[in-house]
Amino acid sequence: MSDSASSISDTPNNQNPQNQSSGRELWSSRMVFILAATGSAVGLGNIWKFPYITGENGGGAFVLIYLLCIASIGIPIMMAEIMLGRRGRHDPVTTMKKLARESGHSRSWGLLGWMGVIAGFLILSYYSVIAGWAMAYIPRMASGAFQGLDAAGVNSVFTTLVSNPEVLIAWHSIFLFMTMMVVARGVRGGLEKAVTYLMPLLFVLLIILILYAIDTGHFSQGLTYLFNPDFSKITTDGVLSAMGHAFFTLSLGMGAIMVYGSYLPSKTSIAQASISVAFMDTLVALMAGMIIFPIVFANSLEPSAGPGLIFKTLPLAFGHMDYGTLFGTLFFILLVFAAWTSSISLIEPAITWGMKTFQISRTKTSIIAGIFVWLMGLLTVFSFNLTSEVTITSTISTKYGEFVILKDATAFDFLDYLTSNIMLPLGGLMIAVYAGWLMKREYSREELNISSGLYTLWSFLVRFVAPLMVVIVFLNAMGVVAFVRTIMGV
Ligand code: TRP
Repeated sequence: MSDSASSISDTPNNQNPQNQSSGRELWSSRMVFILAATGSAVGLGNIWKFPYITGENGGGAFVLIYLLCIASIGIPIMMAEIMLGRRGRHDPVTTMKKLARESGHSRSWGLLGWMGVIAGFLILSYYSVIAGWAMAYIPRMASGAFQGLDAAGVNSVFTTLVSNPEVLIAWHSIFLFMTMMVVARGVRGGLEKAVTYLMPLLFVLLIILILYAIDTGHFSQGLTYLFNPDFSKITTDGVLSAMGHAFFTLSLGMGAIMVYGSYLPSKTSIAQASISVAFMDTLVALMAGMIIFPIVFANSLEPSAGPGLIFKTLPLAFGHMDYGTLFGTLFFILLVFAAWTSSISLIEPAITWGMKTFQISRTKTSIIAGIFVWLMGLLTVFSFNLTSEVTITSTISTKYGEFVILKDATAFDFLDYLTSNIMLPLGGLMIAVYAGWLMKREYSREELNISSGLYTLWSFLVRFVAPLMVVIVFLNAMGVVAFVRTIMGV
């Protein structure tokens, strides 16, 4: 984090001797930490990704599993990740090595940090392209291009946009440049003020959109779709996506929250902070769902339209409501802001690690990282046009059936699958195992500083529930569980 970051007090929190001895800048208050963590959590994951993967996975059952994952895996692992960060007070790689050394475990725990650095990097490469789509919608909204358009018209605006690689590259470049500027120069203080004001504003706009959704006459159909679970619609891969998304949306499993936790004053309650962040994040996602699906049904669209879903539905709302041009423009500006505060946290672990490893300045590290992410982003840009036909399908076939891991996946689908469904849960699993089994209990008890009942609950979730769920969901998606069940005849 930059030295000039105004949100982090220059003098260590002097009421706290431990902070003083660490000599590291800290967030000036718990509120600032919560804002930064919420800024990281609330982003495209909530408004763009949650609705479309819910639509791809048939609605209610997926949402229920997702909510269960947030509560039983997400919150406990978030507490664990913040705790490790605060105890280590370094970049994720160094933190994990340091903690492992402190408690006599292998330095290979640094690999966890490594995987996080790579995951953040890969996610940012496509995140920036999608944020670029949202940016591209700002001028289109402002010019009133969507006024009165029907579903086919809106669809063609989206298709025209994504079929043009030059335009996508331009917006991707602008968004990435904005992100790297903040990361390099640390105008984080300004961004946090933005979070303070813009996040509530985004919330207000979501409420306005919900009112519109109610007005479509298909609100209850949307609610039923979201909240009435139909388990026949969910596949093992859908369960994996729900779990992966719980990590993605809370920014867990790759060290982002660990880095943020490393700046957290010692006395701040980790449990309270985690619960507030998870609550706000979930609320925004559910609101987005409650807006999108009524519009989908009112216009006889397909819930499973994929990554373009919000771009094909929201303009219909803005195109038909009072002050739609104003609200629509504002909405996409705020969405870009939300994506911005998230993208910073995606690259922060890589930057802190790069600076330390190569002993180069923050600015240089940011430029180099920016160039790599930009190039990598081209894979996603081309996935929607030039190379949209270049896909891979990967199946595991056993005597007991075929298990499709990836079907007709473009480079974007592959990157998304690899990061959300594999790397983040794996990182989360390692965090849970480390925090629950290897870290001395007196340390975690001291860091978390919660009542012994709550501590027991946390420890149970982090030691047993979270790791087991991750492992079972993994094995299930790979067909291993089906395989074993068939062999054992159950
Ligand atoms: N949580 C963000 C979103 O929902 C994305 C994000 C930011 C993220 N930092 C992360 C995802 C770290 C995984 C890991 O849009």
